[in-house]
Amino acid sequence: MSKWTAKDVLRADQFTKEEIATILELAGEYERALSDGRTLDVMKGLVLSTLFFEPSTRTRLSFETAMLRLGGGVVSVSEAKSTSASKGESLHDTIRTVEGYADVIVLRHPQIGAADEAARATDKPVLNAGDGAGQHPTQSLLDLYTITKETGRIDTLTVALAGDLKNGRTVHSLALLLANYEVQFVFIAPPALRMPDAICNELDQRGVRIQQTDDLATGIEQADVLYMTRIQRERFDDPSAYDRLKDSYVLTRDLVESAKDGIVVMHPLPRVNEIATDVDDYGKAAYFRQAANGVPVRMALLALVSGRA
Ligand code: CP
Repeated sequence: MSKWTAKDVLRADQFTKEEIATILELAGEYERALSDGRTLDVMKGLVLSTLFFEPSTRTRLSFETAMLRLGGGVVSVSEAKSTSASKGESLHDTIRTVEGYADVIVLRHPQIGAADEAARATDKPVLNAGDGAGQHPTQSLLDLYTITKETGRIDTLTVALAGDLKNGRTVHSLALLLANYEVQFVFIAPPALRMPDAICNELDQRGVRIQQTDDLATGIEQADVLYMTRIQRERFDDPSAYDRLKDSYVLTRDLVESAKDGIVVMHPLPRVNEIATDVDDYGKAAYFRQAANGVPVRMALLALVSGRA
C-alpha cells in the first residue's frame, strides 16, 4: 500500500516538497491525457462524496469533474440546508453516514477545523475544500501548479498576495505551501485585514522574507506574481465594516501596465470587483486558466489518496 493511500488532505503545510512534486507531476500527466482526449478509468468502481456546506462553483465542480474524468462516480451535497445537518445532525454523524456510501470525502464547511473533525470521524480519506477562514489546501496546490506553468519556475519569485489576507483561506494555504521554496512575499492588505500573526511567524521561522504594505501600486512594483483576493463578506460580523473595506483594492489595466513586465495576475475567484474586467485580456491574466487547472490537480489528489496512482 502506498503512503498516500487513505491520506487526508487537511492543510497546505502537511506536505513535503517531495510530495508536492509528486502531486504536480501526476497532475501534468493527467492534463496531457485530457488534452489528448484519452479516456481514463483510474477511479473506476469508486465513489466520491462532495459535501459543501458553503457555496462553491470551482472547487465542487472541479472535484466532481476530476472524479468523472477518472471514471469514478460522484454523490454530492451543494448546500447545508438540503442535508440533515439542518435538522441538527452533527458533522461527526454525517461523516459516519457518508463513509458508508463513498470512498473519498471532500468537505467544505464554514467552521475552521471542520475537516480535521471529519477526518477524525472516518478512516476514509477526507480532503479539505475550505474550512471557514482556515485553509484551502487543494486550491494552493492548483495555485502552485499554475505558477509553475505561467512562470516556468517557483524559486526566486516575488509573490504579492493582496486583499483580505486575514480571512482568505486561499492565501493562508498558498503562503504556507510556497514557504517550501526560495520565494519572497509582499503582503498587501488594509491594516484590519492583515495576514494572521500565526502565519507570518511560521514564515519567519522558515526564513521567508516578507514585506507588508497597504498600498497596491507600491506592493506590486517588484512582484513576478500578483495574487488578488476578494474581501470575504461572509466572514464579517459587522456589515458596515465590510462596506468600509470592500473596495480597498481594484486592479486596473493601468496598474498592471505600470507593474513589472510580464507580471502574472492570479485570483482564486470568485471575483467581485477587485480586478477590472479589462484586465482579462492581458496575456498574463491567469485566473481562468488557474480555475481550469483545478481539474488535473484534483485528479492527481483523488487518485493518490485512493491508492490508484
Ligand atoms: N476558489 C474557490 O474556492 O472557488 P469556489 O468558492 O467557487 O469553490
